[in-house]
Amino acid sequence: MPCNTVILISGSGSNLQAFIDSAQSGRLDATISAVISNRPAAQGLERARDAGISTAAVDHTAYSNRDDFDAALREVIDGYQPDLVILAGFMRILGADFVRHYRGRMLNIHPSLLPKYPGLHTHQRAIDAGDTEAGATVHFVTEELDGGPPVIHARVPIEAGDGAELLAARVLEQEHRIYPLAAQWYAQGRLILNGNRAELDGEALPATGFPFNGTSD
Ligand code: GRF
Repeated sequence: MPCNTVILISGSGSNLQAFIDSAQSGRLDATISAVISNRPAAQGLERARDAGISTAAVDHTAYSNRDDFDAALREVIDGYQPDLVILAGFMRILGADFVRHYRGRMLNIHPSLLPKYPGLHTHQRAIDAGDTEAGATVHFVTEELDGGPPVIHARVPIEAGDGAELLAARVLEQEHRIYPLAAQWYAQGRLILNGNRAELDGEALPATGFPFNGTSD
C-alpha cells in the first residue's frame, strides 16, 4: 500500500519536483495526494497541476493570527488523511499544537548541516563563518524550529569565491537526492521517530542523521 503523502510548499517547489519524479519513476512508494501552499501564487502549485496532483492554497495573509491559519491548514491536510506530511520549501513557522498533531509523520528539509545554522540565510552564514563545507539535513519536525531529530544529511564543499546563490544551488542538488530517499525509508516502514531519536531499521540514526555519500543505502 503506497504511503499517502501531502506536500506543503511556499515557493518554486524544486524539492516537490524531486518527489514527483521519484514517485513517477518508482523510486518512491508514495502517492502524493495533494500539494498545499500558503502562497496561492507559488510556482510549485503549477508543477503539481502539470503532474495531475490536487492542489490547495491556504493563504496565510487571510488569517489574523497564526493559530487560525494553523487550524485551517490542518483541516485541509487532514481531509487527505496523509500517512506522511512533507514540508518542502515551506516557509511558515508552525505552532506547537499543529506540530504535535503530526509528530512522527512530518518531515522537513533545512539547508544546513544541523545543528549548525537553524533559521534563515544559512548559506551566507556558513560562508561568513569561513566554513569549508555546507549542506542540507532532513529531519522530523518537532516543536523546536529546525531542531527535530535528523534523518539524513548531505555535505557539499564551499569553494573559494562561492556566493550564497551558487552554494545554495550546489546544496539544492543534494536536497533533491536525500529528501526522496528519506521519504522512501518512511514509506517502507524503515524510518520512525522514537522519542527524540530517528531510527532506521530499528537502529538509532547518528545525531546528525545518516551521512549521505551519494549511494542510496
Ligand atoms: C530549499 O533550499 C529548502 O532547503 C528550503 O527551501 C528552499 C527552496 O526549496 N526549505 P524548493 O525549491 O521550493 O523546494
